[in-house]
Amino acid sequence: EGMTILVTGGAGYIGSHTVRALLRAGHEVAVFDNLSSGHAAALPHGVRLFQADLLNPDAIMQALAETQAEAIIHFAARIEVGESMREPLGYYRNNVLGSLNLLQAMQDTGRRIPLVFSSTAAVYGTTDAVPIPESAPLRPESVYGETKLMTEQMIRAAHAAHGQPYTVLRYFNVCGAAPEADIGEAHASQTHLIELACMTALGKRAKMMVFGDDYPTPDGTCLRDYIHVQDLADAHVLALGALLSGRFDAATYNVGLGQGFSVREVLDTVDQVVGVRLPREVAGRRPGDPPRLVADAARIREELGFAPQFPELRQMVETAWAWHRTHPNGFEF
Ligand code: UFG
Repeated sequence: EGMTILVTGGAGYIGSHTVRALLRAGHEVAVFDNLSSGHAAALPHGVRLFQADLLNPDAIMQALAETQAEAIIHFAARIEVGESMREPLGYYRNNVLGSLNLLQAMQDTGRRIPLVFSSTAAVYGTTDAVPIPESAPLRPESVYGETKLMTEQMIRAAHAAHGQPYTVLRYFNVCGAAPEADIGEAHASQTHLIELACMTALGKRAKMMVFGDDYPTPDGTCLRDYIHVQDLADAHVLALGALLSGRFDAATYNVGLGQGFSVREVLDTVDQVVGVRLPREVAGRRPGDPPRLVADAARIREELGFAPQFPELRQMVETAWAWHRTHPNGFEF
C-alpha cells in the first residue's frame, strides 16, 4: 500500500471537508472515526474507514500499521463547551486520553509521523487582546478548551523530548459548507449561530435568540471571527505540506480571517440570503461568551501563504444555507 494521510474524526464536519481537500491535493486518505458524531455518508467513496475509538490503543496501532500513515491529522474530539462543563470527565477521557493514546501509538511505530492538531480559540479564554496573537496568554475557561490546551502541551512535550513534528491550528468560528452542498454541519445538538439560523429559516425552530445586546461592542452584540470550513480545510493541507516538506517541524497558527462580525450582522446576512426576516428576540447573555474573539491571522498568511477563497460573510452563509436547505435532516435523509 502507498503512503496515506490518516485523519482521526474524518467523518465529522471539519474532518470531512478536510478529507476532500486532501484528495483534491493528491493525497491518499484513510479515516479513523468512531462515528459517535460523524457520518460515514460524509466520506467520499473509496476512502477507507477504520470505525474505531481512540480509547482503544490496539485499534490505533492497527490503523497505523495497515495504512503506513505518513502523517496524521487529528480532529476526533468532543467539541461542546456547555456539555464539557456538565460532563468534564468524559471530555478529559475522550479528548486528552484519546490524544495521548494516539501520540503513544505514533511513537511506538518507531517512525517520526508528522501531526496536524485541531485546536481552538477556546484555549485563550477571555482576553483583552484585540486581535488575539498566538502568543496571547492561554487561560481556557471551559473544560473543552482545557482539554485542547492539555493536548497541545502533550504534543509540544513530545516534540521537545523526541522531535515529534507538529502543527497546531487554533480555529475561530467555523461555518459554511462545501459549495457542492453535499456535506455540511450536522450536529445532533445544534448550538452554532449560523446553523441555528438556517434551522429557524427551515421552520424547525420558532425564532432566533440574540444572546445579549449590551456588550461593549459597536452594536452591543458579540463579535466573532468567522471562517469558511473549506478555507479551514485548505489551511490543513497547507500546514501538512509545510510539515512534510520539512520546512517547519513545530508551529502554531490561529486560523481565522482577522475580521469580526457581530451577531446582528450575521443574522442580517442570513435574512438576506434566505429572503425572510427571521423572528429575533434579545435574550440574556450566554454564560462564558467573551464580547470579542478575533484572530490576529498574520502568521498563517505570511508563513503558509494562507489565502481564503470564501472571505465574505455572505459566501459563508450562502453555502451553509444551500446545504441545510437541501439536507434539512442532515445525513439522515
Ligand atoms: N449566539 C446567539 N444566539 C444563538 C447562538 C449563538 O446570539 O442562538 C451568539 C453567541 O452568543 C456568540 C455568537 O453567537 O456570541 C457565536 O456563537 P456560536 O455558538 O456559534 O460560537 P462560539 O463563538 O460560542 O463558539 C465557537 C466554537 C467553539 C469554540 C469557540 C472559541 O463553536 O467550539 O468558538 O471560543 F470553543
